[in-house]
Amino acid sequence: MEQELKNLEQEALAALNEIQRLDELKTLFTEYLGRKGKLTHILRGVKDLPADQKPVIGKLSNTVKTNLEKSFEEKQNNLEKSQIDKDLNSGFFDTTIPGKGREIGHIHPISQVQEEVERIFSQMGFAIMDGPEIESEYYNFEGLNIPGDHPARDMQDTFFIQDKKDKKHGHLVLRTQTSPVQIRTMEKYGAPLRVIIPGRVFRYEATDASHDTTFYQVEGLLIDKNISLAHLKGVMAEFLTRLFGKPVKVRFRPGYFPFVEPGLELDFSCLLCKANGCKVCKYSGWLEFMGAGMVHKNVLKAGGIDPEEYQGWAFGFGLTRLVMMRYQIDDIRLLTSGDLRFLKQF
Ligand code: DAH
Repeated sequence: MEQELKNLEQEALAALNEIQRLDELKTLFTEYLGRKGKLTHILRGVKDLPADQKPVIGKLSNTVKTNLEKSFEEKQNNLEKSQIDKDLNSGFFDTTIPGKGREIGHIHPISQVQEEVERIFSQMGFAIMDGPEIESEYYNFEGLNIPGDHPARDMQDTFFIQDKKDKKHGHLVLRTQTSPVQIRTMEKYGAPLRVIIPGRVFRYEATDASHDTTFYQVEGLLIDKNISLAHLKGVMAEFLTRLFGKPVKVRFRPGYFPFVEPGLELDFSCLLCKANGCKVCKYSGWLEFMGAGMVHKNVLKAGGIDPEEYQGWAFGFGLTRLVMMRYQIDDIRLLTSGDLRFLKQF
């Protein structure tokens, strides 16, 4: 038996030596090491041998098997390598065939601008907050000083999620603004506070070039002692200047929002015409940018903050609109169209 194994090994190695091609190698492998191969046959018989022979022959056949496998592998590597050499030398390898390009994705323009906004506000000491897109009526409206019967409710067209009504917090809605996160943040962290809240919001709206049912806003909230609108003006002028990389001026106009008192609208100087007047700014020199104001006492109270001790301001601007201004995109629907011809431009 021992001799038989040794002969088999010699025989296989000799045959291996003669092999020139990969397909021959495969056949030879099957002949010796395949499922019905010669060596496999012997290995299967080991269990029927007399007890005194079993360990010796078992060990030997395993060694033979390992040796042969190694030799086959070496042979295969050699054959493959010489095949490549041959191809190269015979000119078979055509180096002019174009390579297979791999397309690399990139960040969506909205996310690009969002990251930039976050970076600038972080540099100014603001933390970045997040809140739920499915929100309760309470956080989206009542807590923000917009009671159920108040006409201000009509300012926003809302998607209600019908079946669910929580006793304390009312129906669930798709949030129409990022402002509800103001209250959640005050409840959680108390005063003082300095945060921005970028996020997706939803309105039940007919879609056209400048309206979509889904868009992005950035909310800002700063609460501390002795805070005034002068701080807001400074922060926003600095933010816009850093964002656009050139000096930007801001101005306030009176405006109404139920959750601030006084409320205002902020415009910034048109960069295209250096505030001289052009088509983009409708010849006014200014672009409307956001709503803001001093946080209403009722809102501070809803957030658990004492209005006698602290005050602050809040703002909200359309991130989607900022992206459109920045890249001069004239149709909001392009941003969520998934059209790669559009997206690849950014
Ligand atoms: N939430 C408002 C909207 O969606 C924008 C806004 C206005 C946010 C004034 C504020 C603010 O924080 O003070 O129209």
